[in-house]
Amino acid sequence: MGNHIFSQKFKFTLCAAIEILLLCSVLGGSNETDQLALLDIKSKITDHPLGIMSSWNSSFHFCQWRGITCGKRHQRVTMLDLSSHSLQGSISAHLGNLTFLQFLHLYNNSFIGEIPPQIGNLHRLKVLDLYQNSLTGKIPANISGCSNLLVVSIGSNRLVGQVPLEFSTLTKLLIINIQLNNLTGEIPPFFGNFSDLEVLSITYNNFKGTIPDSVGQLKKLWFLAMGVNMLSGTVPPSIYNVSSMNSFTVEENKLHGTILSDLGNAFPSITNFNIGYNQFTGTIPASLSNASNLEIFTIANNGIGGKLPSLEKLQKLRWLSISINNLGTGSDGDLDFLNTVSNKTSLKLLAINSNNFGGSFPISITNFTSLSILTMDRNKLYGNIPAGIGNLVNLEMMYTDGNKFTGHIPEEIGKLKQLKKLDFEGNKLTGNIPSSLGNLTQLTHLYMHNNALSGAIPPTLGKCQSLLLLNLNRNNLSGSIPGEIMSIPSLSIYLGMSQNNLNGPLPVEVIDFSYNNLSGNIPEFLADFDSLMRLNLSFNDFVGMVPEKGIFKNSSAASVVGNKLCGGIAELQLSKCNFRNSRKGRLTLTSKLIIAASVTVCVALAMHILYFLYAKKIRVKPTSSSSVNSLLQVSYQSLLEATNKFSSTNLIGVGSFGSVYKGILEKEEKIVAIKVLNLVNPRASKSFQAECEALRNIRHRNLVKLITACSGVDYQGNDFKALVFEFMAYGSLEEWLHPIINHHNQAERCLSLLQRLNIAIDVASALEYLHHYCQTPIVHCDLKPSNVILDDKMVGHIGDFGLARFFHETSPNSAAPLSSTIGIKGTIGYTAPGLAKVEEVLDPFILEEIKRDMSRRDPNNQGNYEVEECLIAILEIGVACSDEFPSERMSIMDATAQLSAVKRKRLSGEN
Ligand SMILES: *[C@@H]1O[C@H](CO)[C@@H](O)[C@H](O)[C@H]1NC(C)=O
Ligand SMILES: *[C@@H]1O[C@H](CO)[C@@H](O)[C@H](O)[C@H]1NC(C)=O
Ligand SMILES: *[C@@H]1O[C@H](CO)[C@@H](O)[C@H](O)[C@H]1NC(C)=O
Ligand SMILES: *[C@@H]1O[C@H](CO)[C@@H](O)[C@H](O)[C@H]1NC(C)=O
Ligand SMILES: *[C@@H]1O[C@H](CO)[C@@H](O)[C@H](O)[C@H]1NC(C)=O
Ligand SMILES: *[C@@H]1O[C@H](CO)[C@@H](O)[C@H](O)[C@H]1NC(C)=O
Ligand SMILES: *[C@@H]1O[C@H](CO)[C@@H](O)[C@H](O)[C@H]1NC(C)=O
Ligand SMILES: *[C@@H]1O[C@H](CO)[C@@H](O)[C@H](O)[C@H]1NC(C)=O
Repeated sequence: MGNHIFSQKFKFTLCAAIEILLLCSVLGGSNETDQLALLDIKSKITDHPLGIMSSWNSSFHFCQWRGITCGKRHQRVTMLDLSSHSLQGSISAHLGNLTFLQFLHLYNNSFIGEIPPQIGNLHRLKVLDLYQNSLTGKIPANISGCSNLLVVSIGSNRLVGQVPLEFSTLTKLLIINIQLNNLTGEIPPFFGNFSDLEVLSITYNNFKGTIPDSVGQLKKLWFLAMGVNMLSGTVPPSIYNVSSMNSFTVEENKLHGTILSDLGNAFPSITNFNIGYNQFTGTIPASLSNASNLEIFTIANNGIGGKLPSLEKLQKLRWLSISINNLGTGSDGDLDFLNTVSNKTSLKLLAINSNNFGGSFPISITNFTSLSILTMDRNKLYGNIPAGIGNLVNLEMMYTDGNKFTGHIPEEIGKLKQLKKLDFEGNKLTGNIPSSLGNLTQLTHLYMHNNALSGAIPPTLGKCQSLLLLNLNRNNLSGSIPGEIMSIPSLSIYLGMSQNNLNGPLPVEVIDFSYNNLSGNIPEFLADFDSLMRLNLSFNDFVGMVPEKGIFKNSSAASVVGNKLCGGIAELQLSKCNFRNSRKGRLTLTSKLIIAASVTVCVALAMHILYFLYAKKIRVKPTSSSSVNSLLQVSYQSLLEATNKFSSTNLIGVGSFGSVYKGILEKEEKIVAIKVLNLVNPRASKSFQAECEALRNIRHRNLVKLITACSGVDYQGNDFKALVFEFMAYGSLEEWLHPIINHHNQAERCLSLLQRLNIAIDVASALEYLHHYCQTPIVHCDLKPSNVILDDKMVGHIGDFGLARFFHETSPNSAAPLSSTIGIKGTIGYTAPGLAKVEEVLDPFILEEIKRDMSRRDPNNQGNYEVEECLIAILEIGVACSDEFPSERMSIMDATAQLSAVKRKRLSGEN
């Protein structure tokens, strides 16, 4: 045996089909292709502050580089996980060369640029996780090539445009997370065809139109997030058929209609229901009482009226936001539903503001000791604020403004140490400002204006050293302004004490703020202090614009040097300001807060689901994908009928130029494979022609048979081209050589050496025919296992002639077309002969067969042609016809003959 053959380097060439069958694990490039790809990926990363890339050096095999996981057998990259490493740069197009990649995690970095379309080469990819980067451009149409994708998480980027139609072929998806981008267009109705879909989040985009009815077909969907888009219309009733629904959020759209009266029973597992900021009307259904898993219920800012049902069974309710509606009658008893809350400690947020609720302060609230947000402002509530409020020690925000509360502010308010925002504005409160407020060192906003408070301002307020805003306007306060308040360094948004009975001098403390670390903008209100004579803000960290009014009109009175300021009057000689106003101010403070908080919860929940529940245990299903691949006698209409309107259940594969459907042609009563060309791809039209021409006049038992073709327009008036082939029951060789890990039918999907040999002979015969027996030699140019299709007798047929070329011999040396077969040209070096050499690249099934064969070996029977010898003979043929130089290459005719000889020997040896 000429063992030296194995030590040469060779490139995949036309004959490579043969060795592909056996050296299947090196298919699609080699381990060196992976290394090159990784090095290119590294070269595009411009900064890696946490140092992860420094281990990517030649001291180690790339499988040992940080973030890389390789397959044990073939040493090819199966997972690339560079999440949360503060990486900057772009994503290399060479990523597409990591053809064994199944998991791509680049989550939480600063990648810019576009998602490289080469991603479509990653046919094995299951998880595409690019969440939270700064990627721009569109979702590449090529993503359809990743036909095994289970998770697409590309949210929190800057993607634009529509979800491409090609996305519709990703029918195995379990999770779609495209939230937080700038995507436009309508929600694609084909999402409804992803029958395994469990999570769909499109929140925070610019989707418009209606929620497609088809979403109701998603029987496994449990997380649906469509909030913060521009959706209109009603929630399609079909959605209430999705009884698995756990989280349903459509907040901040323009949806209308009523809440299904049977909600609590239709969604028995619902935990999160958020329809806030829409135009819903009607009432809250009584069936809500049965939604015993409900944790978050948000209907804020709609036109919903009536009263609330009993919340007794809702033991897990932690978030009740019914603000800004027409709830309540303005009289006693409106808030009785709060008495039905049986789990007093579960509630974290109670937002009932801006409704019609009447009655006194519901005393039951004082038992909700876990409450952190309480908004009851702008209702018709009256009476005293109970001292029991002091029980709510976890309270961070409390809004009671715009009611008719009377009496004193209880001293117990000082127990609420976590309080950050406190609003009593616009009531009829009397008495003193409690000095215990000074205990609230976290307080940032304190509103007490528009009441009838009297007495002096307590100096203890000066202990609220986090205060940004203090409004005491329009009360009956008297006495002087305590200096302690004026020296609160944080007080920068607003300080109001107007329309009181205050007297005495303005304390000097207000004047000099220099040499602090004060940051943020210069508070506008400083410009409104008419009595201010001098103001020194110099040498702080103030940013932004210097006001031009009040004291700031006079450059000698106001000193601002030593900051990062701009604008102001010319004398200050600061640079011009150049910034845009970022926040849209359409929501009131309270409501903005509620919505922001609720959206944050949703997004956090989505992230939680993605990264903790799923990433680690993606289930894998068997697949029937095959790229059955590539005479105009059939109409669009009959193909439409044959495939049941190109229904996704008939989709059997996605190739580079289109999708392949299984169908039944009525006229011929025949099961066929219909390849619909994706004409968005400009090369698809060309490939249609190439394929038609190549296959028009050729017939061979090992070529896929073209039955008919269609070229016309579809019912939308778009060009439509399709090729109709004989249907091949066993799909592509690729699926047999690289079955998707699947513990149930793994046994079925393994080829014996003899089967492989047969298929190799089939392929070689077809090539022989194409090269030598056609009128004009045809070069396939895209020969690879996915283009070899197996019929129900395991006979191989070459398909997909989309790249085929007629080989008109121009010069005898022009072997260019002949060598451009496999898309990726890898270089593989074999050093030593014998099985121990090739063991690691061998398919484990073959290895097993060899071992079985060896254990059966009869030492007395020297005549047996052992499986091992058979294998080596095939390998030799494979290598011989893969020589880099065409002149040195074994001809395909010899290859066919020799393979047949091996087969004969093997068969006789076995008997
Ligand atoms: C690639 O695989 C070959 C054969 O197993 C091996 O000799 C070589 O060292 C590998 N190269 C890399 C970079 O892994
Ligand atoms: C390669 O990476 C390893 C691990 O980070 C490091 O210890 C070693 O110094 C690096 N070698 C070179 C040549 O950079
Ligand atoms: C994102 O990455 C940074 C840097 O590694 C890390 O500090 C931060 O915790 C990550 N954030 C999330 C949400 O994973
Ligand atoms: C890898 O991919 C890039 C870009 O897609 C291509 O230009 C290059 O030739 C490929 N490299 C190898 C070694 O296959
Ligand atoms: C989002 O897209 C809209 C319209 O397509 C555009 O006006 C807007 O500036 C974009 N926003 C961002 C943050 O890119
Ligand atoms: C009451 O609420 C708490 C906090 O949310 C929760 O842990 C507990 O399970 C609830 N009790 C019941 C009986 O559901
Ligand atoms: C609050 O809780 C206490 C003790 O659990 C109970 O005695 C009281 O009746 C409750 N008050 C209200 C108003 O629910
Ligand atoms: C709260 O404030 C009051 C009045 O200023 C004071 O007497 C009391 O000691 C403070 N309590 C705590 C726990 O700081």
